[in-house]
Amino acid sequence: MARQAGKQNCGRLVLVSCLALLAAGLVGDFLWASSHRFSSVGMSLPSSFTTVIGQLPPNSNGSNTEKKKNDKVRERKLSATFQDLAAPELKWEKMAAAPVPRLDGAAIQIRNFLYVFAGYGTIDIVHSHVDIYNFVDNTWGGRFDMPKEMAHSHLGMVTDGRYIYIVTGQYGPQCRGPTAKTFVLDTDTNSWSDFVPLPVPRYAPATQLWRGRLHVMGGSKENRHTPGLEHWSIAVKDGKALEKEWRSEIPIPRGGPHRACVVVHDRLFVIGGQEGDFMAKPGSPIFKCSRRMEVVFSDVYMLDEEMKWKVMPSMPKPDSHIEFAWKVVNNSIVIVGGTTEKHPETKKMVLVGEIFQFNLNTMKWYVIGKLPYRVKTTLVGYWDGHLYFTSGQRDKGPDDPAPRKVIAEMWRTKLILNP
Ligand SMILES: *[C@@H]1O[C@H](CO)[C@@H](O)[C@H](O)[C@H]1NC(C)=O
Ligand SMILES: *[C@@H]1O[C@H](CO)[C@@H](O)[C@H](O)[C@H]1NC(C)=O
Repeated sequence: MARQAGKQNCGRLVLVSCLALLAAGLVGDFLWASSHRFSSVGMSLPSSFTTVIGQLPPNSNGSNTEKKKNDKVRERKLSATFQDLAAPELKWEKMAAAPVPRLDGAAIQIRNFLYVFAGYGTIDIVHSHVDIYNFVDNTWGGRFDMPKEMAHSHLGMVTDGRYIYIVTGQYGPQCRGPTAKTFVLDTDTNSWSDFVPLPVPRYAPATQLWRGRLHVMGGSKENRHTPGLEHWSIAVKDGKALEKEWRSEIPIPRGGPHRACVVVHDRLFVIGGQEGDFMAKPGSPIFKCSRRMEVVFSDVYMLDEEMKWKVMPSMPKPDSHIEFAWKVVNNSIVIVGGTTEKHPETKKMVLVGEIFQFNLNTMKWYVIGKLPYRVKTTLVGYWDGHLYFTSGQRDKGPDDPAPRKVIAEMWRTKLILNP
């Protein structure tokens, strides 16, 4: 049942490029709540769609304002349910909020500590420090600075239990490009050291430690949008490189940023993600973010000792922005929130409000719970039977799955898995 995934890839890439070209005309910057460029007013709905939704009162007046109002009602109806899956209700407990809100940050759990790195505070302000949450007494503390040259978002990051490897990522606010610079944090001493730079910069690459080597693959290229397929590795031990340079490995079947990359029982999984992302507006001195259409996917690929990619069962729906939104518990990979395919009418980003379980005993996916709200790039930990999440960007409300507020909140729930 496992098959090689490489072949379909070229066709998909061509399609992505075409979509990107089409989308170039539709430049908008609704990464942030303030922008309403694609709001319902002024969007003309295709007539087929209007017919399908026909239960609205006929517009006897024909005035323009009435029509706009109806369009708005129509959009809300679609938004309310679009892409949400049926999921068990969970009891959520609100914990102490993080010292700062952050979007596109990174997190690593070591024992009872969740190290939370970097991220945007707002689209114009990026963090350059680490905050630490202690699951034993449920407090935040221990803030310390990151090196000045370290990327501020979209990092690749992994730990061996003491040393945290921090690979490449976006340097600066808005939609600036990535740096190739790479670092190691020793969490026993909270001291930083430089590491071998990646051969080229990448934006939000999949990153893991596997069989004594640090693996980095996929992500976007320097322009933030073009998917990279390259895969590199370097031998490491105790926070040091055992080789002088990165070596090329088998390319990833589909490139692109924002996927979960997980090693369980000597097998490496890459889950979800997307092709394409916001880019800097050409010529903008502040590298202002502008929308490019992305394609979100539900694909799951696995590498084992054969060093060939194998296709695994797909996620229950396409899911991206999940690079630090997962935990492994009892031979299951648990994934929290994310983003899915854009809204078919508004083209706005649609956030995910479910928790997914990939049970590696049965190789089956389950939807195991609903979050307090839909949220993307959330940072996840697990302690003493509880699943925790903090940070990210939440939705506008139950009826509107588009992204709005960047959050600092921390929540937990009792994790209930399918055996
Ligand atoms: C039609 O719309 C106009 C402009 O909003 C309003 O003045 C008028 O009363 C409306 N007529 C009906 C029949 O609703
Ligand atoms: C994990 O497995 C242990 C041992 O079987 C069990 O006690 C525990 O409840 C499980 N945890 C979850 C979250 O299912």
